[in-house]
Amino acid sequence: MTDSIHASERIAHLRKQIEHHSSLYYIEARPELSDYEFDKLLEQLIALERQFPDLVTPDSPSLRVGGAITKEFVSVIHREPMLSLSNTYSLGEVEEFYNRVKKLIALEGVDEQEMVAELKFDGVAISLLYRDGLLVRGATRGDGVQGDDITVNIRTIPTVPLKIGDVGEIEVRGEVFMRKEDFEQLNESRPEEERFANPRNATAGTLKLQDSAEVARRRMSFVAYYLKGIRDESTAHFSRLKLLEELGFSTGNYYQLCRELNDINEFIAEWSEKRWKLPYETDGVVLKLNAVTLWDKLGATAKSPRWAIAYKYPAQQARTVLIAVVFQVGRLGTITPVAELEPVLLAGSTVSRSTLHNFDEIQRLGIMVHDRVIIEKSGEVIPKVISVVLEERPSDALPIVIPSNCPECGTPLSRPEGEVSYYCPNEEECPAQIRGRLLHFASRNAMDIKSLGKALVDQLVAIKLVKDVGDLYFLQEPQLENLERMGRKSAQNLVRALDESRAKSYERLLYALGIRHVGRATARELSQACPSLDALMQASEEELSTVPDIGPVVARSICDYFAKPSVPDFFEKLNAAGLQLSALESAAQINRNFEGLTVLFTGGLDRHDRQTASELVMERGGRVVNSVSKKTGLIVAGHDPGSKLDKALKLGVRVVSEDEFEAML
Ligand code: IVH
Repeated sequence: MTDSIHASERIAHLRKQIEHHSSLYYIEARPELSDYEFDKLLEQLIALERQFPDLVTPDSPSLRVGGAITKEFVSVIHREPMLSLSNTYSLGEVEEFYNRVKKLIALEGVDEQEMVAELKFDGVAISLLYRDGLLVRGATRGDGVQGDDITVNIRTIPTVPLKIGDVGEIEVRGEVFMRKEDFEQLNESRPEEERFANPRNATAGTLKLQDSAEVARRRMSFVAYYLKGIRDESTAHFSRLKLLEELGFSTGNYYQLCRELNDINEFIAEWSEKRWKLPYETDGVVLKLNAVTLWDKLGATAKSPRWAIAYKYPAQQARTVLIAVVFQVGRLGTITPVAELEPVLLAGSTVSRSTLHNFDEIQRLGIMVHDRVIIEKSGEVIPKVISVVLEERPSDALPIVIPSNCPECGTPLSRPEGEVSYYCPNEEECPAQIRGRLLHFASRNAMDIKSLGKALVDQLVAIKLVKDVGDLYFLQEPQLENLERMGRKSAQNLVRALDESRAKSYERLLYALGIRHVGRATARELSQACPSLDALMQASEEELSTVPDIGPVVARSICDYFAKPSVPDFFEKLNAAGLQLSALESAAQINRNFEGLTVLFTGGLDRHDRQTASELVMERGGRVVNSVSKKTGLIVAGHDPGSKLDKALKLGVRVVSEDEFEAML
């Protein structure tokens, strides 16, 4: 009993902390904890709730990490139809809409016409139902009348409040979307052929997933733009948006009250450029009549209300010249034609390169070197060449010749039957493929070795210091010091970063190997099904095909990878390098030397960055805090420590140097 009381207090405390830090991170964008520290809090909560399942409540932030698997989503009927908006690309039509509304409200005896201008978020509409302050249902729009109940997935979105003040029963509608950064990170972690074209597609695909833990990992966001409350007295849309904010929703903040048509035009003009600087994609402006009482009076057509309209920005285009086409060789040998363009300003940034995807695309465009071309940026993050201005083809236009040999290593290229791409088959020796593998290995979702960048990889491969990722772990500082732009300090940093990466999980390592078709999600499944490289190596194609999410193509690709003659030696090297070749080793290797200890870092550290040092403490059972109190158990003082050290000394907290800290680890 006392255990349970204690646990319930601890759970309440953890939830409060998690909600506080979650709001700092997601809503206020000024985090105080590192991602790792935050995850640790969540892990503690989950562990406690597992131990005391009776204490789990529907608003617990632990539900945000997902876990539930849904076989089929249940259909739900919307309380009122989820209408869409009528769209226009024309400012003239916006004016017509404005005048139409003016007439309609005049019929109701109203002559003051206030409109709210909002950004049009490019994502997927959902509806949220709150009862007694708790999120009870999240649903897709579906056909507008009937959608899917995707509550388990919606709960994983950090900016969807699980609990709000008790305001009776309310419905909130808004847009789920992926921030550009989260979208890029998701795509980076996926095999090339499975990448999403844009954040909206990624969002739509993710919301439909049946594995809510995967949904949680993909980091989506939510903005609210509509509130319908039983006890909601507010009759102005603008104040409803404010109310939504007070309840803990994000509205995106950029809406504005417009008293005349001119204000609307100014808002549209202002955001036509500014929107490119936002961390997420927007494709227009939505205008809504502020007086909610008039909404019903104005009514709706079959699909859209008469009191609102969406103005969509035209896709951004620019004209430029194709200077040359270069052929890039990817880490898997794929040859990609890349257009080198005369630099031109498009959608807020200068574009000088654009992928032409493959040779079929070149033919489809009918493009030649020196052509005048139109490039466009619509929903996509990366602009693309959409057409050639044929009438202006210059006399010196040259056809684009498909190379017959690899531009990097000279090996004759091959084009597998039925595929659109050419490949360089020289997997082992082609320097471009080696560089590609190294960069993939070091990338954020893989081993996350920040100090191993492109310039360094280029040099390491050019002078043949490194041929595969295993070689990295045997590099010595003196070999690195004299490389271009390196020096002693950078050499030390790299060796240390590599050293630290040895502890990265087996799952990450599996992904980092760069096996064709094996993205982060597949690596996770594989690491569970085959918890060591040995086990994986021995698995047959049939066995692999039974692993969730792994189809025959992926299974085949994994077997092909392990069948390569160079593999045994290569894995021997990885083993000698001390990498985690199995899932079990990593957790067990770490000690509990910081169990129950609250640690504060002050001043600069030489051996580790702050983040890593904090992780080292937490892996060993300790906590890391940012301010000194009586509860602080240990201060690690680096060079030039700040006032926190003085305070700690006054409080009599134990202080150690970085060297002593290292010894404690
Ligand atoms: S209001 C009845 N406001 O655009 C009014 N929609 O093209 C319902 N959208 O289905 C929508 N940003 O998915 C509204 N600020 C915003 C919006 C917005 C994006 C989406 C929404 C809607 C679609 C219509």
